[in-house]
Amino acid sequence: MNITVIGTGYVGLVSGVCYAEIGNQVICVDKDPRKIEMLNAGEIPIYEPGLKELAAVNRTAGKLSFTGDLASAVRQSDVIIIAVGTPPLPNGEANLAFIDQVALEIAEAMNGHKIIAVKSTVPVGTNERLAQLIRSRTNHDFDSISLPEFLREGSAIEDTLHPDRIVIGAECQSAADTMVQLHKPLTEQIVVTDIRSAEMIKYASNAFLATKISFINEIANICEKVGADVTKVAEGMGHDKRIGPSFLKAGIGYGGSCFPKDTSALIQIAGHVDYEFKLLRSVVEVNQDQRFNVIRKLETIFHGELKGKTVAVWGLAFKPNTDDVRDSPALEIIQHLVDQGVKVKAYDPIAMDSFQALFGKDGVEWCSSALETAQDADALCLLTEWDEFASVDLLRLQNVLKQPILIDGRNVFKEENLLGTDFIYYSVGRPNLNQGVKQPMPVL
Ligand code: UDX
Repeated sequence: MNITVIGTGYVGLVSGVCYAEIGNQVICVDKDPRKIEMLNAGEIPIYEPGLKELAAVNRTAGKLSFTGDLASAVRQSDVIIIAVGTPPLPNGEANLAFIDQVALEIAEAMNGHKIIAVKSTVPVGTNERLAQLIRSRTNHDFDSISLPEFLREGSAIEDTLHPDRIVIGAECQSAADTMVQLHKPLTEQIVVTDIRSAEMIKYASNAFLATKISFINEIANICEKVGADVTKVAEGMGHDKRIGPSFLKAGIGYGGSCFPKDTSALIQIAGHVDYEFKLLRSVVEVNQDQRFNVIRKLETIFHGELKGKTVAVWGLAFKPNTDDVRDSPALEIIQHLVDQGVKVKAYDPIAMDSFQALFGKDGVEWCSSALETAQDADALCLLTEWDEFASVDLLRLQNVLKQPILIDGRNVFKEENLLGTDFIYYSVGRPNLNQGVKQPMPVL
């Protein structure tokens, strides 16, 4: 098929490359000339393992191209996929200005029947509104499709080429059939439904996963008080097929470009129809508080006196294998430490530049390796579970720290890793490993 993908962010770029990979002719469009220039030079504006190589193969094969010329791309294509950003507004609602603009530009460019599919995450009813907008600007026929995206950063290619399911929201059977044909090479698990349900599936899926994370984080907090190990609790729960093992890793809470944005948007969507989504409100609140788990531990260790201490931070990205720092817990944790008069040293294998672009360069000592970061620090906080950190020699680490205090916000290290070391070690929801301040367990 001839496909245009509009927007070369995570979703658009990965989707475009993968549609080409399965044999389609794909044009990726972006209004940012610098991005198009980079892409045409074989560079990739985001860090995503394997993406650069897959894009190069498909460009060389003539199946993939990049342009800023939306109108020409639309005219050459039968299927137009919109994948522009819908970032949150200050009140939590999705900002639909970019998608509206793109819809208008598509309408002006149309030269015949098109299928117009929306991959961007949009509130229920948006596809219908966009269809009206397009209809008001063109006499050409088109079919609207809601095509929600479930890829995860860091494993985006694998998720796109081997998805758990594809969801297609359509009003017209023949357009739905075309989209099923397009996605058949990826999976047999294709859910075809109406447009509003498809839009809701995306929000409900992300809200449910966020709920699992906040749930296990609260269980972890209770585990710390009652002397249970949350990793064992999660393992024991996860074997139950009705629960499943994934998204039960306790830590310092979720971040990223999707969960925080989509949970807030769903609370707003519910609010617009006079429904208070109490459960999801709590999920967001728990997540917000969980970021301070690390700070609370530092305060316990230093008896509330953080001022003047040097704290090393490992990991700035919201999760490993990405340079994305949007809503990363590290932003808030580091800001809080700096505000408390702590001297912060920080390092991330990939996300240093993107973090500095958002946080600013001042107030933090930026380091170029894990051990350099830890040098002479009073405590080390691990905030992102990069493999690089798990493989650090703990005895060397202990020697470079001023005090061997390690707060593992992602439960990276195991008991056997710590044997033979003098670490005062804290993790999340594993009180048996929390060496240092031995609190007597309450009699239950
Ligand atoms: C998520 C959804 O998984 C994906 O389907 C959707 O399309 C976009 O949003 P992503 O934001 O890339 O993907 O990351 P994900 O792997 O889901 O992790 C999100 C956050 O949750 C990260 O901060 C991660 O550290 C945290 N997390 C995840 C946990 O704290 N515990 C877990 O068990 C899983």
